[in-house]
Amino acid sequence: MPAELICFEAACRARFPIHQILYNCPHCGGLLEVAYPDGTGDPEGWKRLWRERRMSNAPLDQSGVWRYRELIPFLEDFSPVVTLREGNTPLLESPQAARYGGLDRIQFKHQGFNPTGSFKDNGMTCGAAQARRLGMRRVACVSTGNTSASMAAYASAGGLQPIIFIPHGNISYGKLAQAIEYGARTLQIEANFDEILALVRVLAERIGIYLLNSINPFRIEGQKSIVIEMLDQRDWEAPDWIVLPGGNLGNTSAFGKALRELLALGLIRKTPRLAVIQAAGAAPFYDFIRTRGEFRAVENPETLATAIRIGDPVSWPKALREVECSVGVVEKVTEQEIADGKAQIGKAGIGCEPASAATLAGIRKLTAAGVIRPDADVVAVLTGNVLKDPDYVYKYHTGTLTAPDGSAICPTFGNQPQRLPNDPDVIEKALTRD
Ligand code: F0G
Repeated sequence: MPAELICFEAACRARFPIHQILYNCPHCGGLLEVAYPDGTGDPEGWKRLWRERRMSNAPLDQSGVWRYRELIPFLEDFSPVVTLREGNTPLLESPQAARYGGLDRIQFKHQGFNPTGSFKDNGMTCGAAQARRLGMRRVACVSTGNTSASMAAYASAGGLQPIIFIPHGNISYGKLAQAIEYGARTLQIEANFDEILALVRVLAERIGIYLLNSINPFRIEGQKSIVIEMLDQRDWEAPDWIVLPGGNLGNTSAFGKALRELLALGLIRKTPRLAVIQAAGAAPFYDFIRTRGEFRAVENPETLATAIRIGDPVSWPKALREVECSVGVVEKVTEQEIADGKAQIGKAGIGCEPASAATLAGIRKLTAAGVIRPDADVVAVLTGNVLKDPDYVYKYHTGTLTAPDGSAICPTFGNQPQRLPNDPDVIEKALTRD
């Protein structure tokens, strides 16, 4: 039996052919996911095969997503695949960052090493493949920046026309620059992310463009490979915790799905707990988990971590299931905590964009609260590259960064460039004094 689309809602579970163009269940409006026939695999054989593929020069094998194609088997043939050799991102240790986070040790799975500098590439290679398989010509997304950069690259590389919708004035220049350079038709709309998503969904139907937001279940399939590759790099030893930032909550959904499938196939023996960290000014999922009332969107989400400036995350029902299944937690962190966490990751020689740093800030909070033990085995997922938002970096280190509410961010770990005259004596004095 081939792969299918299945409604996520427990009361519905309607099934649809894999090549039907759907973003939500036509019966109940629920989210869709890709389902595979109850598979039996050969875990040990696969593990060996995936290692062998690292020595191959075949494009599919070189991709850190398609290398694991046995776990994302939604294509019958691989001709629609567009790969820029996504994935293949390192697991980095940092004793300094671990100390800051209150841990004995920490590993960062750095998705910023991807071709367009964020984890979106892992999912986009799958979304673009599905678009091509369906014979679509135009693809679109609304984005806080990284999805658009990634979609622009994969669409253009695959001969599709990318159209991106972004909130006017609220994405970093690094990301906007990428989308333009990769040839996307770029529309800056005077509305926030959530409003534009609603708009784009109407337009997608009207003018027949294929939506590549994380509501697209094929992107979620690709993002599973972040966890799969991480476990491969750890010789299939699951950590105690996987910590990640939460915005639209696609990654949380993808990680949880990957872990459940890996456990069912016998590739891992235990499930790590997920810790999802939101920015305090855009934390609807945190509020929901704390109160367990109705899910309430945050109307005017605000954070300098613009990648996660999302008030109405579409994937929250899936993310809820994954947090529950993994006995996970959701935490929120302030602008100051994100900024300082980011500077620590930078000082460790690793670097990341602001949203990614919510992880270390969240870990520091969770270890202080006794939720994560100091000796826990923790992997934090850094979602984007430090160069995505250089403006933020410069402002933090020079003490000119202000939070959305107008308060100043303290450059706790600031590293201000010094301006000196062209005079060896003065320079010598300056350097010997420090
Ligand atoms: N980190 C970065 C760097 C991101 O770009 C995003 C999302 C997230 C974290 C949150 O991930 O949505 O799966 O919970 N960026 C999207 C975009 C929304 O449009 O680029 P999530």
